[in-house]
Amino acid sequence: MKALVYKGPGEKSWEDVPDPTIQHPTDIIVKMDATTICGTDLHILKGDVPAVTPGRILGHEGVGTITEIGAAVTTLKVGDQVILSCISACGKCSYCKQGVFSHCLGEEGASGIGWIFGHLIDGTQAEYVRVPYAETSVYLLPKGVTPELGCVLSDILPTGHEIGVQYGAIKAGDVVAVVGAGPVGLAAIATAGLYGPSRIISIDLDANRTEAAKKFGATDAVVGSDKDWKQQVLALTDGLGVDVAIEAVGVPATFQMCVDIVRPAGHVANVGVHGKPVELALQDLWISNITMTMGLVNTNTLGTLLKMVAQDKLPASAFISHRFTLADIMEAYDVFGRAAETKALKVILNA
Ligand SMILES: NC(=O)c1ccc[n+]([C@@H]2O[C@H](COP(=O)([O-])OP(=O)(O)OC[C@H]3O[C@@H](n4cnc5c(N)ncnc54)[C@H](O)[C@@H]3O)[C@@H](O)[C@H]2O)c1
Ligand SMILES: [Zn+2]
Ligand SMILES: [Zn+2]
Repeated sequence: MKALVYKGPGEKSWEDVPDPTIQHPTDIIVKMDATTICGTDLHILKGDVPAVTPGRILGHEGVGTITEIGAAVTTLKVGDQVILSCISACGKCSYCKQGVFSHCLGEEGASGIGWIFGHLIDGTQAEYVRVPYAETSVYLLPKGVTPELGCVLSDILPTGHEIGVQYGAIKAGDVVAVVGAGPVGLAAIATAGLYGPSRIISIDLDANRTEAAKKFGATDAVVGSDKDWKQQVLALTDGLGVDVAIEAVGVPATFQMCVDIVRPAGHVANVGVHGKPVELALQDLWISNITMTMGLVNTNTLGTLLKMVAQDKLPASAFISHRFTLADIMEAYDVFGRAAETKALKVILNA
């Protein structure tokens, strides 16, 4: 089969590799129908994720049709079309029993992490994929939800919802700010709407992106490079700051922006993947009763979000900006890597 193989920092190739085979009785093999590229894949290609070694097939999102099932699989069958979660859950370890699938201890991720596709094992940017712990890690694609919409459920919608909105504890009437209007920030904006906030302020350096955020439910847009960006945000509150600030970029400056605009007793929910330490001015902050949260997505709300997408209650199709065939994945990476110019959000690769 063909697959997108990581060759070391800055290098990748679409090339022939052996077909995957069942290795454990809980595995299935799927033929990919649609997959996509994540910002995290770009981090890997920069060499920021050293656990990914040359030879690894990238990708952790997508929808496929089952072609083979392991001996222990009883609730899935050949021909079923399934959404692959970016988190693989054994369903048996102590973390899985708590619903913290992101830290699944299953044998495959010996390091104790549920994100293994395109990281610790071969991923989804391929014609076929071996899916471990299939019964506890995939979701049947309901009628009416297309494979490309299914791709939005593998990672970004659960990430924005669980690590942004739920950890941020958004409630009716809240004023919410989301820093970063890439796919993950937009997913936080879209799912925040499910909880009835009074305002959702999108903040990004790119005015195109903050304007586009209105399609996902943002009520206000602020350009983060404006000198008075903070005054603009405070003017949209009662002057005291936002109830919930969601960080969806992953650099120290944007975490600080969230701390700067949150009101006493508010929440800062960090979603961004950080590569550098962030300074925390506890000498000033200790008195402010702020809750700060962070984490890796569990995809424990994937099934709920899937129902909302199936009922057209979330603007899932608005995330899809470009479509390619799987064989044109090198071109798709180029378009996705130049998102500011190309306005790329999710680029879909159809088999
Ligand atoms: N916690 C998790 O489980 C999890 C899962 C998936 C992705 N992530 C992370 O979420 C983050 C966002 O992902 P994405 O795919 O949307 O990324 P992205 O790169 O597509 O989007 C980031 C956005 O932030 C904006 N931005 C950059 N610097 C800014 C600044 N100083 N002020 C305001 N805006 C700024 C950019 O213009 C861009 O629109 C990444 O760090 C990604 O790795 C986390
Ligand atoms: Zn991802
Ligand atoms: Zn587990």
